[in-house]
Amino acid sequence: MKNDASTTVNMQEHRLDVKNRPMCLSGKGVTKYFGFGKKLTKAVDHVDFEFHEGELVSIVGESGSGKTTLSKMLLGLINTTDGEIYFQGQKRDISTRHKKKEYWKGIQAIFQDPFSSFNTFNRIDTVLLDCINMRGGKHLSKDKKFEMMTEACSFVNLKFAELTNKYPFELSGGQMQRLMIARIFLLKPKILLADEPTSMIDACSRATILDMLLNLRNETGMTIIFITHDIGLAYYISDSIYIMEHGKFVESGSADEVILHPKAAYTRRLISDVPKIHEAWDLSTV
Ligand SMILES: Nc1ncnc2c1ncn2[C@@H]1O[C@H](COP(=O)(O)OP(=O)(O)OP(=O)(O)O)[C@@H](O)[C@H]1O
Ligand SMILES: [Mg+2]
Repeated sequence: MKNDASTTVNMQEHRLDVKNRPMCLSGKGVTKYFGFGKKLTKAVDHVDFEFHEGELVSIVGESGSGKTTLSKMLLGLINTTDGEIYFQGQKRDISTRHKKKEYWKGIQAIFQDPFSSFNTFNRIDTVLLDCINMRGGKHLSKDKKFEMMTEACSFVNLKFAELTNKYPFELSGGQMQRLMIARIFLLKPKILLADEPTSMIDACSRATILDMLLNLRNETGMTIIFITHDIGLAYYISDSIYIMEHGKFVESGSADEVILHPKAAYTRRLISDVPKIHEAWDLSTV
């Protein structure tokens, strides 16, 4: 791809100072151990975090550092071994099915492999209609629903008319990820958790997906938790960064603080793997 000014982004431009915003999701001493005795794995080991409304935060760490385990606890898919999670300032209570369902209206996720996230037997219009219904739009007119689905697709540069009769497996990886974002656009959760959403797609689609996540945050004020092993992507997209090593946060702060003045040796090592991290981003090489 040609390197021209239009594909170069000033990374400082979109960063938000979120410190004074209300808390959206936070945790104290959040922990997950698997197994016991000689087989004990401290996947997530007493981590503290504070994610604010509208904040785009990245959690960065190498394979096995505990990122997915933490996201599963945040989503309420697995129990914590220890610690507390607070949602919108209140201790999270997902002790019953009903309470869990309510919680999931506030937090949604997109995963590495978008194909695993859909029921393959539902056509795409059904996938999107379900989102409208889940948000209490069952009673809306057919025309209104059509308008909402068309708007969600155009937000992610997909043409609804070309998709209506298709099944998820008929889409490319990049189109699927965009459809996932269109779903989130309709569901409008308070928090989106995106666990390595770009690792299965080519560099060009990756840049597009990152920009769509940024637009989503900018247009809806959603809190986005972006999980990645790639500190370069994290620097490109986030307001704040948490660095995770062996189940612990070794460093956290604003993206500029962490990348320009790293304190932990582990952070410095991750940064040294990305030679041009401090330069303006050339999207064609992301
Ligand atoms: N269900 C499980 N049972 C036992 N151990 C587990 C389980 N799930 C994860 N682990 C272990 O917990 C640690 C953290 O795994 P996790 O999947 O959270 O890492 P990750 O940071 O998401 O890695 P990756 O970048 O490869 O996705 C690993 O040592 C893993 O083997
Ligand atoms: Mg993972």
